[in-house]
Amino acid sequence: MSTAPAGGVTVRVPAKVNVQLAVGAARPDGFHDLANVFLAVSLYDEVTVTPADALTVTCSGPDSDQVPLDRTNLAARAAELLAARNGRPGGAAVHIHIAKNIPVAGGMAGGSADGAGALLACDRLWGLDTPVAELLGMCAELGSDVPFSLLGGAALGTGRGELLTPLDAGSFHWVFAVADGGLSTPAVFREFDRLAEGREIPEPQASPALLAALASGDPDALAGTLANDLQPAALSLRPQLARTLAAGTAAGALAGIVSGSGPTTAFLVRDDEAAAKVAAALEASGTCRTTRIATSPTAGATRI
Ligand code: C5P
Repeated sequence: MSTAPAGGVTVRVPAKVNVQLAVGAARPDGFHDLANVFLAVSLYDEVTVTPADALTVTCSGPDSDQVPLDRTNLAARAAELLAARNGRPGGAAVHIHIAKNIPVAGGMAGGSADGAGALLACDRLWGLDTPVAELLGMCAELGSDVPFSLLGGAALGTGRGELLTPLDAGSFHWVFAVADGGLSTPAVFREFDRLAEGREIPEPQASPALLAALASGDPDALAGTLANDLQPAALSLRPQLARTLAAGTAAGALAGIVSGSGPTTAFLVRDDEAAAKVAAALEASGTCRTTRIATSPTAGATRI
């Protein structure tokens, strides 16, 4: 675990998986209403902020070359938003370093995690102690998944995913198959709209059976209720993901699902032993680039 350089603040932020992602029709603002059941999983980015002359972003980790280091990075936008909101003379004069372990553009909210992490780290660095409700409001301005990255645990996200209600959740074990390359979230939603053309789209609603299974901690019950309305769209754009899903379930996973907008696939497994077996089989199958093992739920953005 990295420690912050002298004068810096480090925040650890989890990835997420959606055990239910119910998607409504496109709204006039282009977003979709969701019923989005989020779980925070034990894969983390660490965001360190230190005082600097100007805003800069660096990134380390196996896929760090895919992370934008300019003002499009959500961590940079978070620092700028918090500085502007507080009228800080000189703006967001910080160096942000992201130690990246969450798959990039993978449907696991890695960019959102960095936004939430930078917001909390700058808040502490600048001694602002902004109330959580205000931080969550700023997170929602940054992106639909960013409030959940701050909050962590388990939650139902409604609206475009940013309105959170915490949920009870037992502990679950996961294997994630990381695909080659990312998928663009707007492109997956556009494909959802294309596939939905001419169909009546129901209001998105959380499944009572899924919420009960989540609270019970029973993996067999949860396996039977996993649902992602974006999965057909992700599979349409990346048909080879069907092979990854088949390889994971053939190896003994209780269920497999595309994580969010993909292309990472998530496999629910019974325990640590099953996780190791399914991860090894997925890697041997040649249907993914690499795998990660994790548990849920875990805490949201936390200073370390
Ligand atoms: O909120 P965020 O910036 O993460 O969303 C990225 C894109 O994903 C949006 O511009 C939109 O195309 C799509 N999206 C959506 N409905 C949502 C969340 C995201 O259509 N509820």
